[in-house]
Amino acid sequence: MSDIIHRPRRMRRTEHLRALVRETRLAPEDLVLPLFACPGENVRREVSSMPGVFNLSVDEVAREAAAAYEAGVRGVILFGLPETKDETASGAYSERGIVQQAARAVRKAVPDMVVIADTCLCEYTSHGHCGVVRRGEVLNDETLELLARTAVSQAEAGADIVAPSAMMDGQVSAIRDALDGSGLESVAIMSYAVKYASAFYGPFREAADSAPAFGDRRAYQMDAGNAREAMREAELDYTEGADILMVKPATAYLDILRQVRDRFDLPAAAYHVSGEYAMIKAAAQKGWIDERRVMLETLTCIKRAGADLILTYYATEAAKALRNAE
Ligand code: PBG
Repeated sequence: MSDIIHRPRRMRRTEHLRALVRETRLAPEDLVLPLFACPGENVRREVSSMPGVFNLSVDEVAREAAAAYEAGVRGVILFGLPETKDETASGAYSERGIVQQAARAVRKAVPDMVVIADTCLCEYTSHGHCGVVRRGEVLNDETLELLARTAVSQAEAGADIVAPSAMMDGQVSAIRDALDGSGLESVAIMSYAVKYASAFYGPFREAADSAPAFGDRRAYQMDAGNAREAMREAELDYTEGADILMVKPATAYLDILRQVRDRFDLPAAAYHVSGEYAMIKAAAQKGWIDERRVMLETLTCIKRAGADLILTYYATEAAKALRNAE
């Protein structure tokens, strides 16, 4: 007779037994799909480093959002490629701005979709930095005013949530004040509270045409080695009135996500970023990994680490895979 008492394998014997004791379940409603709006009509231009991701004209953004909704996805986050860029990022806060147009189009085509607008300037500035630049430096307080204007115009165009990603100090309170001052109290803020200066954003910069023309973003985004500082960033945004705290990127920063989840009683979001998506795609295209399984495993593990919602380019595909698995 064996003296083994505890046999965890008992509950792993069949799929139904495993399902009974599964702790974390990914659901389509957990997922938010990023979309890149560009000028024109009927435009679907694939991003070369992100197969399956496109620059979409506003009509196509609406179509893509409808397809995502059909698959069970309930949120989209909008990025914009403006017609022209300038020093003051005027395309970011114009009423006719590309994200504002896209927000209105999604609202109309898919009324129940949660519309999130990424609130940053890097896609709209001629130099590609996330704020106003003077003498080679990104100025914090001058940038706040423009971010606040951007958030208000996005909210007026129908965004349910604005998502400041510029990593300027005080951006959440500046945006909260501006929204409240414009009668937009019910518009929520999902702050990119903990955003690292990451090489995993590489493909996004092609998708959003937002690579900085000089230097990099290390003077405002966080250093990969820092965890205590992440708690400080999250604490500040919590105090400034954020409704959701985001950690970005996701898979290489799951320890940070877990700490944010445990320390703050706000929903935690994780952004599974462009480079994380591109790596899975590339390996899958080479036949080196099973894409569907790696996708679902990755997203499940991000949720297990503490994410209440996950922003991912895989949103629609994952939602479909989850439904088929039912
Ligand atoms: C804008 C912004 C970036 C991402 C989201 N918002 C790029 C950056 O900071 O350079 C990255 C998203 C991704 O890589 O998928 N500031």
